Amino acid sequence: RREVKAECFELHARAQRFFQNALAARGAEKARAYLDRRHISHDMRERFGLGWGPDSWNSLKDHLQQLGYPQEAGVTAGLLSHNKAGRVYDRFRGRIMFPIHNLAGQVIAFGGRGIEEDQEPKYLNSSETPIYTKGDHLYGLFQARRSISSEKSVLLTEGYVDVITLHQHGFSHACGVLGTALTPRQVHRLAGLAKEIILLFDGDRAGRKAALRSALMVLSEGVSCRVVMFPEGEDADSLLRKKGRDVFADLLANARDGLAFCLAVVRENESPKEIMRWAVSFIQGLKEVSWQAFYIPKIAEGLGVSEKELREAIGQPGTTQSPKAIQLHLCG
Ligand code: UTP
Ligand code: MN
Ligand code: MN
Ligand code: MN
Ligand code: MN
Repeated sequence: RREVKAECFELHARAQRFFQNALAARGAEKARAYLDRRHISHDMRERFGLGWGPDSWNSLKDHLQQLGYPQEAGVTAGLLSHNKAGRVYDRFRGRIMFPIHNLAGQVIAFGGRGIEEDQEPKYLNSSETPIYTKGDHLYGLFQARRSISSEKSVLLTEGYVDVITLHQHGFSHACGVLGTALTPRQVHRLAGLAKEIILLFDGDRAGRKAALRSALMVLSEGVSCRVVMFPEGEDADSLLRKKGRDVFADLLANARDGLAFCLAVVRENESPKEIMRWAVSFIQGLKEVSWQAFYIPKIAEGLGVSEKELREAIGQPGTTQSPKAIQLHLCG
């Protein structure tokens, strides 16, 4: 078991170097031109270890074979795939490679972005392997960890490029959730370094939904939270590119209080009955019962419900549901 993991780490280190060399080599002009178009600096390409998965079925496969690794090891590590007939081939082809590191700085997975408009999916990510569990890690946390500790604050984005563009503009306390929904495990990781999580999700329907869901989760884990809302169609990367560092810094300084944000969304989108149900489920979902005293008055005020009614509803067994059981019709 330990040997399997050790081999996965080794293969990821090999693959990362291979992709990085490929980005610098002949044949990767298109990839370098793509990074130029995205204005990703050479410093950032280095800092994040960006690479290029060549547009070929067997370039990494042949490389690993030359190094003496059995094909099955590459498959177990998620770097090679095989078809039904058992033919093994490179998983990441024609993609900019974003290595995902653990806190020790080891590469444990990759995200690969297609550089053509019609390349599906836009990002291909590693699947779970013996060294990578989805929802355990954050993109860029290795590069951001010192800044997060010194700022006592973390900027959390949706995307790979969002993180890199933030670092490039001096916001080096940024990391990303890696496509999936933010998990309590990720929040615990951040809570160990920062006092506050600032959510910078995309200005689209999916982003607003994710921001609400994530803010609620962060708060119920007992971590304080603020939310930045981008204009429709923008994300951290696109807005920073358009507006620059100073405007962006203002946006961060004016980030909305996470609880106030959630309460406003709930109040605007739900019927009075649903609002009460929501309030009860949120309070009961708090990880520590002792936090109730802090939240109850704030929630009553923010939702425009009576504190007394809310306390009564919380005290009544049978009327309550787990937070997950409640379906909200939020954000349209
Ligand atoms: P977005 O669609 O907002 O992409 O998805 P993006 O980060 O802005 O990408 P660019 O700017 O077009 O390069 C946000 C994140 O969701 C995950 C990725 O982590 C992405 O960065 N995602 C998105 C996937 O895993 N697969 C996809 O096909 C799309
Ligand atoms: Mn260049
Ligand atoms: Mn998006
Ligand atoms: Mn985006
Ligand atoms: Mn983007």
